Amino acid sequence: SGSSGVQVAIDGPASAGKSTVAKLVAKHFDYVYLDTGAMYRAITWAALRDGLDLNDEAAVMAIVAKTPIRFTPGQPDQLVFAGETDVTRAIREEAVTNNVSTVAALPAVRAALTEQMQQIAAAGGIVMDGRDIGTTVLPSAQVKIFLEASVAERARRRFKENQAKGIAVSLATLEQEIATRDYKDSHRTSSPLTQAKDAILLDTTSLTVNQVVDKIVNLVDKYLNRQ
Ligand code: DC
Repeated sequence: SGSSGVQVAIDGPASAGKSTVAKLVAKHFDYVYLDTGAMYRAITWAALRDGLDLNDEAAVMAIVAKTPIRFTPGQPDQLVFAGETDVTRAIREEAVTNNVSTVAALPAVRAALTEQMQQIAAAGGIVMDGRDIGTTVLPSAQVKIFLEASVAERARRRFKENQAKGIAVSLATLEQEIATRDYKDSHRTSSPLTQAKDAILLDTTSLTVNQVVDKIVNLVDKYLNRQ
């Protein structure tokens, strides 16, 4: 890693496998991994805890101002803190998942969290996943990936993950939730989910995790060998 490290931006819709792949690419190069969705989720969690109207931008901004989001090493995954509270598990619950798009649509919240992301990236090699990393957060990232997969395949993956965690939500409900979140993420006015012009599209519907990771590692290696 270090200041010579490459910036890798991985964007795409919900449940396309971004975080799984991004973590493995970061590990391969010994880069920092930043889950930007977790930051929007942590703010959503705190706003729900306080019973706020999630469309009230000033109220949600007050939460952003007083709630530092921190990531610390953990096994198997890094831990996420909102202020002093470990929210690693809570931010994956349905209440947060189904409300985070509302919070992520608030322009002032996006501006504040984007600045935090850019500060974290300034330290060196980083793999960031999200919706607007290649377009807005790190527009000069050297490697940009847009990960896609069909709604049916993404719902199937979520279903399997949920089963492993003992969460019972039907496949049909998951498909509906994913389609709704795609729509909201792609149609908001502030920094919507779009593929950057210089991003490489990877459809993962029929690829394994390792195949996707290999493709991205090769793209980073190619960039490094050109230097
Ligand atoms: O990747 P995820 O499901 O954890 O993301 C949670 C929500 O946050 C998702 O609905 C879109 C939003 N998000 C965003 O708008 N911009 C990002 N860079 C990352 C996530």
